[in-house]
Amino acid sequence: MSIPVMAFFNNKGGVGKTSLVYHVAWMMSDLGLRVVAADLDPQGNLSTAFLDEDRLEELWTGSPPLATIYGSVRPLQRGVGDLTGPYLEEIGDNLALIVGDMGLSRFEEDLSQVWPKCLDRDERSFRVISAFWRVLQKGATMHHAQVILVDLGPNLGAINRSALIASDFVVIPLGPDLYSLQGLRNLGPALRAWRQGWQDRLTKNPDPDLLLPDGQMQPLGYIIMAHSTRSGQPVKAYERWIARIPDTYHTDVLHEKNRETPSAADDPHCIAMLKHYRSLMPMAQEVRKPIFHLKPADGAIGSHYGGVQDAYQDFKQLTQKIIARAGIAMP
Ligand SMILES: Nc1ncnc2c1ncn2[C@@H]1O[C@H](COP(=O)(O)OP(=O)(O)OP(=O)(O)O)[C@@H](O)[C@H]1O
Ligand SMILES: [Mg+2]
Repeated sequence: MSIPVMAFFNNKGGVGKTSLVYHVAWMMSDLGLRVVAADLDPQGNLSTAFLDEDRLEELWTGSPPLATIYGSVRPLQRGVGDLTGPYLEEIGDNLALIVGDMGLSRFEEDLSQVWPKCLDRDERSFRVISAFWRVLQKGATMHHAQVILVDLGPNLGAINRSALIASDFVVIPLGPDLYSLQGLRNLGPALRAWRQGWQDRLTKNPDPDLLLPDGQMQPLGYIIMAHSTRSGQPVKAYERWIARIPDTYHTDVLHEKNRETPSAADDPHCIAMLKHYRSLMPMAQEVRKPIFHLKPADGAIGSHYGGVQDAYQDFKQLTQKIIARAGIAMP
């Protein structure tokens, strides 16, 4: 039995993917789940959220650099063996990180080349295309994790295709704006094409001993991120975009036809509408904590402290909804 992998994805940039993975990973671990968070975005923002620069430098400049996701897949890329590691950076009692690496972008071209070759029953191609899934499963087994959360960069490239093939579930953060709606229109068909493309390839695996992901990438729902609205934009404007999100999601992502779409507030696929946490977000980033762990000593005093408690409830609800929708059993 494999451990469920959940990707937070939208090819639109800056919608709050990394912030969500970071906060949901912490909240899941607070709720008692053992979690592996994996930074599969070569920008490495999730790693930067968890670790200070001194620690990142140690991890990135090791020789050979074995402590990152790129370190794990590098032997395979160079044709000198299969995966190594992964190294797990312990973040909290229940929470471990597979560290990101800018070098990962050097894997993009290989991932792109092996995709068509899988159709020719080429064994190395299957090893390369399934590398992320196998690293994630190995890391989660080492950590005795119940769930794996994955942060991705904002594009429809080969790294993300391979990461999504490795994912059982996809959570889609988006902003209440035209760009996010347009992003959803591209995302739905891309997920379907990758899912189908992987099903076509699965039947061509030449090595019955090589375990491969199912590639379900089931959309779990969307999260509307209010912070990404342009400041000064009238409330009415983004209410208008929010009203259009459910229909676009049901049509383009779920591929449903001829049905009544509920409003976002009534849509079970709307996991949350997350508010703008204003100055709490930079305050939390400064001390490398999730917003809901901020203490008065970190600067969260007065009304800020009320905001911290609200954030705890917001993220608790959102995370419990994700856990329930994915059918993950609580310990
Ligand atoms: N709920 C929120 N309230 C306030 N600020 C937020 C919130 N969520 C995210 N942000 C801020 O918005 C910015 C973009 O968020 P983030 O980096 O998580 O987006 P992303 O989708 O991962 O971006 P990219 O596509 O570049 O990977 C960050 O500065 C982050 O701190
Ligand atoms: Mg990001």
